[in-house]
Formats: sequence, C-alpha cells, structure tokens
Amino acid sequence: MSNKFKRLPGFRDFPPEDLTVRAHVFEAWRRVSRRYGFMEYDGPPLEPLELYVEKSGEEIVAQLYNFQDKGDREVALRPEMTPSLARMLAERSRSLPKPIRWFSVPQLFRYERHQRGRLREHFQWNVDVVGEKGVSADAEVLAIGIDGLRELGLTDQDVRARVSDRRLLSALLGAVGVEEERRPAAFSVIDKMEREGPHKSRQRLSAETGVSSAMAGDVLELLGADLDTVAAHFPERDEVGQEVARLSEYMDILDAMGVGSFVELDLRIVRGLAYYTGIVFELFDRKGELRAICGGGRYDRLLELVGGEAQPAVGFGMGDVVLTDLLGERGLLPNTARSLDFYVVAVGEELRPRALSLAQALRERGRSVSYSLKRQAVGKQFKSAVTEGAREVIVLGPDEVARGVAVVRDMVSGKEREVSLEDLGDDGWRMRES
Ligand code: HAM
Repeated sequence: MSNKFKRLPGFRDFPPEDLTVRAHVFEAWRRVSRRYGFMEYDGPPLEPLELYVEKSGEEIVAQLYNFQDKGDREVALRPEMTPSLARMLAERSRSLPKPIRWFSVPQLFRYERHQRGRLREHFQWNVDVVGEKGVSADAEVLAIGIDGLRELGLTDQDVRARVSDRRLLSALLGAVGVEEERRPAAFSVIDKMEREGPHKSRQRLSAETGVSSAMAGDVLELLGADLDTVAAHFPERDEVGQEVARLSEYMDILDAMGVGSFVELDLRIVRGLAYYTGIVFELFDRKGELRAICGGGRYDRLLELVGGEAQPAVGFGMGDVVLTDLLGERGLLPNTARSLDFYVVAVGEELRPRALSLAQALRERGRSVSYSLKRQAVGKQFKSAVTEGAREVIVLGPDEVARGVAVVRDMVSGKEREVSLEDLGDDGWRMRES
C-alpha cells in the first residue's frame, strides 16, 4: 500500500473486533459510574488554547495539538477533560445541588512520543465530584476507579493504587525549610524521581530549594516511609501531624469500603498536572510493567481559575490504552467473534421472498438474523452461516414450507428439528398475493 494514506502515528483504527473490546470497557465504566449515582456529560473536542495554558502545566501544554482556526482563534484539541469540566461548571455550578457527581468518556489528543501505552489519542474515563471538601469525596472517587477495574475482572493481585497528598508533601518540605514558592519546583523533582534515580534527584532537590544535599536525601528517603514514621520524624510540626491524620482518615474510609487491599501510601506520587492541591493517586499494574492506568486527585482551585465560584473538586482520568493491554495480558478480553441468533437458508431461489419475510419477522422480535445476499447453493449458505457465527440455521425447503414447517439446525450440537413457521414468527407471510 502506498504511504500516502497511512494512518497517522499514534492513532488507532477500530475494526469491529477492537471496537468490541472498547465497547466492553466503556460499558463497564458506565455501569460503575451509574452505580455510584454519577451522570454522564460531554463537551467539545476543540477548545480555546488558553484553557490549557498555565492550568494544566508544562508537560501537557508541550504536547498540545494546537492551531489557528479560520477565524484566527488559537484553539487546541482537548488533551484532558478537567479544564472543560471546570469551565462547564464555572458557568453553572451555582445552580446545581452539591455534591455534583459527573462522569464522561471523552477522546483526548496529546502529541506524545509514541511508545507502549502512550498514543496520540486515547479515551479516558473521567469521574469527578465537585462541591465537597472532605476526604470522604476523595475516598469515593478512588473507590469508583478501583471498582471500574474490578468490574473488568481485575483484582488486588493485578493492580494497586499509590496514594499521596500534596498538602503533606508541602508540609514536609516546609518542615525542612523549603520556602513556599520553591515547593512546586520540589514537586517536579519528586515527580521525576523514579525516572531519574535517588542520586540525581537529591542533587536537583538541593539545587532547586537551597536545602543541603544531606537534608534533601533525608526528605527523599522519607517519601518511601509509612505515615507513622513520617509523623514521628517531625513530632513538633503540627502541619505535618494534621496532614498525616487526614491521610489516615482517608485510608480508613477506603478500608471500610472494602478496597483497602488495593491501596498503598506512596509519597513519591505527585502527579505532573499543575492544578492538584491535595490527595493525589495513580493506579498501576502490580507487576509494575506498564505505565499508569489512571491518575487523579483533588483540585480545589481550578473552577476559580477558569472564572467560576470557588468549589472544592476531586476526580480521576483512566485511560483505555494501558488498561486494554493489561486486560489482554490477564486473559480478560471479551470474545470478539461474530455471532448471530439465526441464519436463514433458502433451498431454491423461489423461496427467497419467504426467507426475507421470516428474517424480518425475527428481526422485529429482536433476534439477530442474516441470510445470503445473493443466489447461492445450500452448502455455500451453510458456510456463510458458520462464518457469521450463527447459533441456529433455519432451512426453508419447498416440501417443508408446503407443510408449514422449517428445519432448524443447532450449529453447536448439529441436531436438527422441525419447527412450524408460525412458531418461528412467520405468522404474516406478508408478500402481497400477486
Ligand atoms: P493524566 O494523568 O494526564 O490525568 O491522565 C490519566 C490517564 O490517562 C493516565 O494514567 C493514562 O492511563 C491515560 N493517558 C494519558 N495520556 C495518555 C496517552 N498519551 N496515551 C494513552 N493513555 C494516556 C488527567 O488527564 C487528569 N485530567 C485526570 C483528572 C480528572 N484529574 C481530575 N479529574
């Protein structure tokens, strides 16, 4: 094939077998969302560029698909849903009862380096609670994400949630003398720690914040500790104690909801997006072979930033790409074979009108039915029935039809039986008498 019409790198076609998998995942996401009382929304795929600049953070802005439209507007394909949600709610949150529970399954676009688990378009289940500042909302949101994975057959042996809190990280940095305005730079160092390793991270943290290299090393080491150790390290620091207490309460709620076995504290999680203000989390495959399946957290200032009333908010985005890879590895993908209830075989062309009438009658009753679109020998029609995955074949032969019956063959057992055409639903042999 010539290169001219090749698919763009990082974009996917969805032939039916792949769309079946996608639909299976989306249906699970939607079922779980509704079970938790969430309503579905959507927004435009193209937004003003301005919506993402500053609010989303450098990483996403560098990956934008942006251009000038014919009206000279600076626009971008949406790389994430949260700014659109914030804009939508900035316009109407005053009139909505709180908490607002909304979900969406948008297609998003990021000009990323194409690699395993990262494409230039993906679908992302977004679940957000707006208008509740307590940790119960944070816990509810993470529980939904975990349930979305359980609904697809994954267990706590397959996936884990790594949770952290930017407020606790900020208190820790404050406790070792990092000024408030240097903390975002420190977050960025921590965010990259897993990629860059402890040595480089310690050097960078020290350079970015002015704390000694030894102190930077201590802080980074503490990020791998449990909450008691963290609290014990700064007994005289109230802010640290308060944040530890909040995070413990969050963990307790998740335990009470029965999802505690999925959740682990990990203060190395910061999240790349600029707008998070509190608890943040990411879901990963337990073996740690794949990139993050899901990421989210609390973002209490975003609605204000896009011109709305201040509203606390928390949510996540779960992508379809890594998740589908993981489902494949665990043998949890749905059967994508073609399937039909019936294939109608006409023995002889004169019976074709009768076959059409029967097929339509069955379709009206909600059954899936197919038949040969052209004149074909009976053997060939049976072959097509197999190709199309028919569970039963209805054979209309002249002798049987004359007696008001058809032969129905079960394609699994091979057993055949006679069934009256009336019972099959062909009660209105509806061809006009000529
Ligand atoms: P995010 O971490 O940028 O968060 O994306 C969430 C998830 O989307 C990732 O964990 C990953 O599974 C998937 N994802 C992101 N980029 C790609 C890509 N290029 N290819 C394939 N999958 C990808 C957000 O987008 C936040 N807006 C989530 C959120 C909602 N926070 C609060 N509410």
